[in-house]
Amino acid sequence: MTKNVAQLMGDLESIGRDPLRGGYSRPGFGTHELTLLEWFVAEAESRGLDIERDRNGITWAWWDLPETATGSAADSGDKPNRAHAIATGSHLDSVPGGGAFDGPLGVASALASLDQLQEQERNGTLRRTRPLVIAVFPEEEGSRFGVACLGSRLITGAISPQRALALTDRDGSSFADAARAVGLNPEHMGADPARLSGLDAFLELHVEQGKFLGKDPLGPAVAVASSILGHGRWRFSFAGQGNHAGTTLMADRHDPMIAAAAFVVAVRDEVSAESGARGTVGRLEPIPGGTNVVASRVDVWLDVRHPDDVVTAGLVERLHHRATALADAEGCTVTMSEESMTGTVNFDGGLARGLLNSVERVAPGTQLLPSGAGHDAGILASVIPTGMIFTRNPTGISHAPEEYVEDADAQHGVDALTLALADLLTE
Ligand code: GLV
Ligand code: MN
Ligand code: MN
Ligand code: MN
Repeated sequence: MTKNVAQLMGDLESIGRDPLRGGYSRPGFGTHELTLLEWFVAEAESRGLDIERDRNGITWAWWDLPETATGSAADSGDKPNRAHAIATGSHLDSVPGGGAFDGPLGVASALASLDQLQEQERNGTLRRTRPLVIAVFPEEEGSRFGVACLGSRLITGAISPQRALALTDRDGSSFADAARAVGLNPEHMGADPARLSGLDAFLELHVEQGKFLGKDPLGPAVAVASSILGHGRWRFSFAGQGNHAGTTLMADRHDPMIAAAAFVVAVRDEVSAESGARGTVGRLEPIPGGTNVVASRVDVWLDVRHPDDVVTAGLVERLHHRATALADAEGCTVTMSEESMTGTVNFDGGLARGLLNSVERVAPGTQLLPSGAGHDAGILASVIPTGMIFTRNPTGISHAPEEYVEDADAQHGVDALTLALADLLTE
């Protein structure tokens, strides 16, 4: 049975809702991400796709070449020829309290495009020379283990398996344990250049996460990505003396919360002074975390983004100095550790031009937009040509429940993806 993208998104509507935060909480390798993955596998299998889960937990759903096409299963024995494949897809996990579209829209759109392409192949208007594979990447947000795009970093070698496996979540479970729990073998994880060398291009359709297309007057329904801002995450651990809230005089305290709070304001000030930079503290954890306890430690996570990686490095260095001075003033200490850093990515120019052509046929006036958000496409761009299509979000809000896409715009995104894939699959 074929479904349009609105119907596919409708299937997911109730999975992983978070009544406390609003929106959805679907952490990587958690129950809800896995439920969505089961849904994806069932939808892909019902369309005749062959499912593989690779050693890094990435799911690949293959639409092999028909038997009449050159180099197909018919002439090469049982194994279909999966060289020179075109890949599309996205992720199914979310940030805590995230929107419905960030990730799942790219997966649902891939399935909806597949329906259109399979129909074209049946009626003879599509003659593929390449297989298509839909890829679903785990833990894209890094909401559980702290490093975003964990699946694509592992397969490309951007993170070592040793480092990835030692990452822990808020409950202290390691990524190694989470991987084992879903049947993966930690000893087999890591860079997989052979698998990547079989892919000639990766396209990711994604909800637009800023205000370019949704602002007044409304822009086109679909856009193409030019680049991804360099971005990184750093952890600042402010340490002081844990103590009793009632018996410890204000003058006697070494309270790391005071240094951490001042640091949050310093981040806003330093980053605001740097043109084009963004800096966020969205997570802060006092330890032990009791109302009547002066904290002994406060961990603060900093997210910094800027198009120029040298500027990012300078900014983080200045913030480290500010944190040290603020900690000193409270009789506390601070240590900084880098959790991830991804340099600015410029997407493949040839692929972007091809995408613009396809997208222009669906949404005239299409623009090339930089992305302030990170994506698996940005990590894969270091090894294969990648490109991205953005679907208009009228609220301009993302990583929050208000993220939104109109059904008609989602359909435009799918139509553009289908045109782009049809071009690539017949090249
Ligand atoms: C992922 O969406 C990110 O940009 O942090
Ligand atoms: Mn995303
Ligand atoms: Mn996201
Ligand atoms: Mn007491």
